[in-house]
Amino acid sequence: MKINTAEFIVSNSVVSKCPQDRIPEYAFIGRSNVGKSSLINMLTNHKNLAKTSSRPGKTQLINHFKINNNWFLVDLPGYGYARVSKKTKEIFQKFITDYFEKREQLVCAFVLIDIRHEAQKIDIEFINYLGEAGVPFCIIFTKADKISKGKTEQHVAAYRKALLANNWEEMPQHFVTSSLDAVGRDEVLNYIDSVNQEIFSNDDFV
Ligand code: GTP
Ligand code: MG
Repeated sequence: MKINTAEFIVSNSVVSKCPQDRIPEYAFIGRSNVGKSSLINMLTNHKNLAKTSSRPGKTQLINHFKINNNWFLVDLPGYGYARVSKKTKEIFQKFITDYFEKREQLVCAFVLIDIRHEAQKIDIEFINYLGEAGVPFCIIFTKADKISKGKTEQHVAAYRKALLANNWEEMPQHFVTSSLDAVGRDEVLNYIDSVNQEIFSNDDFV
């Protein structure tokens, strides 16, 4: 899929104030610093569309970006950032869960996982939460430029094992990406395109 336009629409912390457009949207979620905002920039081919930082906790609101004038990418705050105060952390979690439970336009969540690390409890818990809430999701492994191809395969296999050990019957649809060198760009965009095609052929949604 070709990205013709990508524009920032609005940031807010309340799901009811998100754009009312009846168009499909795809949200990026994962631990702080995993590379959510960088991935949005990589996919849209815009250097600074979403704000990134080497310090965790950069994205603090729900950010809507309209793509090709007919679907949204949504950048969300990370979870699991230990240095925010307990109170702030709770607010993040509340509006993250509110977003996933109430946003009708959401058609797929992309859960980002740093390919370098072993399965982390908080990510498995979040994936289980999405499963229980009935939110369709895919896994996107990030920062593939930081390890070898062989290690990448090993780590994906280990992740599959961790999910099976947590009562998942199979590895969800997944992608390996690097925002540094655009690895995985076509695969993720083609996936979104295929879901969009299906939705646009179904008059109920729009
Ligand atoms: P929060 O908004 O804080 O939750 O973080 P985020 O998940 O949006 O991460 P962000 O995109 O801001 O990236 C965090 C850091 O990781 C930045 O220093 C990025 O340059 C770096 N980074 C992100 N993706 C990649 C990647 O694919 N490869 C490499 N080498 N670095 C990456
Ligand atoms: Mg961010």
